[in-house]
Amino acid sequence: MELRINGVTREVDAEPDTPLLWVLRDNLGMTGTKYGCGVAQCGACSVLLDGVVTRSCVTPIDGLAGHEITTIEAIEADPVGARVVAAWVEHQAPQCGYCQSGQVMAATSLLKQNAHPTDDEIGAAMVNLCRCGTYNAIKAAMRDLVGVAKTADADRGAVLATSAVMLGAAGAVLAATRGEGSEAADV
Ligand code: FES
Ligand code: FES
Repeated sequence: MELRINGVTREVDAEPDTPLLWVLRDNLGMTGTKYGCGVAQCGACSVLLDGVVTRSCVTPIDGLAGHEITTIEAIEADPVGARVVAAWVEHQAPQCGYCQSGQVMAATSLLKQNAHPTDDEIGAAMVNLCRCGTYNAIKAAMRDLVGVAKTADADRGAVLATSAVMLGAAGAVLAATRGEGSEAADV
């Protein structure tokens, strides 16, 4: 049968009930999508199916004709996926990296549906397991992507600007004081 994967039509020779994960990895050699539990629990095998995160370990290929499958190999061709990967790199989210292609898929799917999710919505969507415990880095990357960190940075910038003005004023007062002092010394 034919599958549309990362914008390319691929001819696949596999039984209709074969899970997509096996086809990706074993038939097509696309090993960026990982096998973790095999029972839809961990999320390591996540791909996008028509833009929505899907666990490929429990998705038989017989229902996939005509649908667009996106894997980690092509996620940066998607503008949202490219932003997610950049944030992951900036926040150094991966440790061993095994779960991270699935994490990136989950994040991309969420942000495609909701560009500004709340912390609760992020928590509800980002449920993939990470045995390395990179959850804090992932959360920081997600907050950056939805603009929370940028808002915090803007607030810090405003405080710094105010501080600079105050320091400037203090410097002017000090200079004036020194000026009076030197005049007194000159007298
Ligand atoms: S390998 Fe598919 S959810 Fe774990
Ligand atoms: S980075 Fe190692 S399992 Fe998530």
